[in-house]
Amino acid sequence: MSRLDSFIRRVTAQRECLNLAARLIGDIPGPVLEFGLGNGRTYDHLRELFAEREIYVFDRRVAAHPECIPDDDHMILGDIAETLPLGQSRINAPAALAHCDLGTGVRADNEALADYIGPRLARLMTPGGLIVSDQEYLVDGWVSLDLPDGVKPGRYHIYRVGERAGAL
Ligand SMILES: C[S@@+](CC[C@H](N)C(=O)[O-])C[C@H]1O[C@@H](n2cnc3c(N)ncnc32)[C@H](O)[C@@H]1O
Repeated sequence: MSRLDSFIRRVTAQRECLNLAARLIGDIPGPVLEFGLGNGRTYDHLRELFAEREIYVFDRRVAAHPECIPDDDHMILGDIAETLPLGQSRINAPAALAHCDLGTGVRADNEALADYIGPRLARLMTPGGLIVSDQEYLVDGWVSLDLPDGVKPGRYHIYRVGERAGAL
């Protein structure tokens, strides 16, 4: 598969999973968390999907398109290892959705980061909330959901957070 095809499949999977998540959390209150601002593409899509919700973004730097930069209250700058444990003090309520798009090209780094994030992110989520992610997570109480039609298993991941969310 060409790198162009691979990129198209990745961003298509992101879009389809986020669109499905928007339908699934319609009745679940809470803000949205974006891990990995990057260019701001998925943040911009989240703004379209969740115009009524607050969106908090985590990244170590701001390097996004100028029209896709959160205001200071919603941009949590720094390494996730430092900012995630402090997340509760920045976010106004348990989150209904977290989108994690932190992947680098290094598989071992991605797995180590996912291991670190999982239990800490669980504390920020509301019961029944969703995690949409480029990485696999193995967290107690998180249930893997079916992907949208056309998204190959393993390309993206959707988890529903269990009843003990936020109580860890
Ligand atoms: C693939 S890009 C995100 C792309 C973005 N979702 C988009 O649609 O444009 C990954 C981002 O994660 C950030 N990142 C990766 N590891 C991080 C860490 N440990 N702490 C903070 N940010 C991190 C990088 O700085 C980068 O901006």
